[in-house]
Amino acid sequence: MSIELYRDDHHVCIAFENLVYGSDIQANQFLVVHDGHAALIDPGGDLTYSALSLELGKLIRIKDLDLILASHQDPDVIASLEKWLMYTDCQIAISELWSRFLPHLIPGYNERLVRNRIIAIPDRGMDIALGDSVIRALPAHFLHSEGNFSFYDPVSKILFSGDIGASMVPGGCREPVQDFSAHVRNMQGFHERYMNANRVCRLWVGMVRELDLEMIIPQHGCPFAGEEVIGQFLDWFENLQCGVDLMTQKNYSLG
Ligand SMILES: [Fe+2]
Ligand SMILES: [Fe+2]
Repeated sequence: MSIELYRDDHHVCIAFENLVYGSDIQANQFLVVHDGHAALIDPGGDLTYSALSLELGKLIRIKDLDLILASHQDPDVIASLEKWLMYTDCQIAISELWSRFLPHLIPGYNERLVRNRIIAIPDRGMDIALGDSVIRALPAHFLHSEGNFSFYDPVSKILFSGDIGASMVPGGCREPVQDFSAHVRNMQGFHERYMNANRVCRLWVGMVRELDLEMIIPQHGCPFAGEEVIGQFLDWFENLQCGVDLMTQKNYSLG
């Protein structure tokens, strides 16, 4: 089942939130279509491929997919790469830190699939063309992956934030967060362990505050929509102690 996040005559954004079977980790996948040009964001692994390609086939001609945008290198983001490369003509955009590792996802006999189809995103980020529009890859390094990007769509004003803002909500989340303080418990543990340090949380929030935003939607769990809840989320993330901030000798002991 898909959720329409945005639509005008030229531009559509869709979320898929219930296609992962066989894992405890719910995940969202996203489709942005601009004047017939299509980008899939964080399509996931083999668990998701069949259901996602079926849903996608109802919306676009799969063969015509232009782009896969991968926020980082994790299995729930991009492990199905071989199939997408095989059944579409898409290019794959991922951090330059991970682009050289992508061939490891492709068996040697299919090595030709990945040749000349990788867009290596530099650390500073880049605008990735989608027809006559762009998707902006914005630095989100160490949140959690070392080479990590959030994707901003300037038409819908949606920020696809990858694992940032992820919440563990069994069965997914069709509606934006209403009660932010009650929602924090769904995010706290995940962010404390998977995010690297408060310093990078603050840097990312400083950048994101400059965007014109309607929605922030993570790869897992519920979106944040509207000025008030987005503001609450940014305030929370900016002040979060996480990762190495919380590590002590106890976490590195032999017994
Ligand atoms: Fe991840
Ligand atoms: Fe993830």
